Amino acid sequence: MNEKLDAILKNGLEEIEKCTDLKALDEVRVRFLGKQGELTAILRNMKEIPPEERKNVGMKANTIREKLENALSEKTNKMEEEKLLADMAKEKIDITMPSKGVKKGALHPLTRFNNKFMDICVEMGFTVIQGPEIDTDYYNFEALNVPKNHPARDMQDSLYITDNILMRTQTSNMQVHAMETIKPPFKIVCPGRVYRNDDDSSHSPIFNQFEALVVDENIGLKDLMKMIDTILKRLFGEDVKMRVRPSYFPFTEPSIEIDATCQICKGKGCSLCKGSGFSEVFGAGVVNPKVLEMSGIDSKKYSGFAFGPGIDRSVMITNRIPNIKYLFRNDIRFLKQMR
Ligand code: PHE
Repeated sequence: MNEKLDAILKNGLEEIEKCTDLKALDEVRVRFLGKQGELTAILRNMKEIPPEERKNVGMKANTIREKLENALSEKTNKMEEEKLLADMAKEKIDITMPSKGVKKGALHPLTRFNNKFMDICVEMGFTVIQGPEIDTDYYNFEALNVPKNHPARDMQDSLYITDNILMRTQTSNMQVHAMETIKPPFKIVCPGRVYRNDDDSSHSPIFNQFEALVVDENIGLKDLMKMIDTILKRLFGEDVKMRVRPSYFPFTEPSIEIDATCQICKGKGCSLCKGSGFSEVFGAGVVNPKVLEMSGIDSKKYSGFAFGPGIDRSVMITNRIPNIKYLFRNDIRFLKQMR
């Protein structure tokens, strides 16, 4: 029995040594140490060994088992390490290869315009706030002096969710939220999406506005005009001209419409500005005292002014985009041209 055990050990170690891959190594393990293996068979049949030999044979068999196991795991480790090194050598990076080129992303033209406008406002001391795109009739209309059945509601085709809740038609809802929550004096600006039931090449059911609102003591139309003049100069350059037309919004009194030098023809007159040299940029006005009072601001002490540009049209004009839908389609061919 002793010789048989010695032979198993010698044989096993030789076989292990001969292995050249992990699969062969596993086969050796099964052959010697597996359930049907030679060593296992001896240990299983201990009963047949004379009692006086049994202890020694058992001990020797177990030692051999341990030796074979150690040899197997040593060889496995060695082979795994070799394989890893070989794989790594294969994966060597050839730094002399030409690069594939990194594709550069860019900000969406609406985001760019938005950022530019926000930067100007922040430098002028405005705080940027955001608020609900789904709001109640009260914030979108009622508290802005547009009661139910007021004809001014026809100016904005609204998308209602329930009788009382709608997609905001204007960022002016933020005027009310601001006046209710911030103590005057304050200057806020709110960029955001607005929604109207409107759909053609220059109107989309979703579009973007800003709302700027200043509430302070003794401020009025001339402060509003000065501020808009400053913003337009920062936005379009020092030589931009501004034109003011009377307008109507229920929440401002007086209400005005601001035009600026057409940025396509620089005032010479073109098809986009219909020969006038000016294009419409935004609605504005002095906050109606009734609106201040409805939101709990003392209109004897405080006054305010507001302006609310739509940005999609400006972006369309300056980038010569023929259809507003291009701004929302996420078509990479279009966006690449806007870089
Ligand atoms: N909310 C108005 C609109 O959507 C624009 C506006 C804002 C006018 C602020 C006056 C003051 O047409």
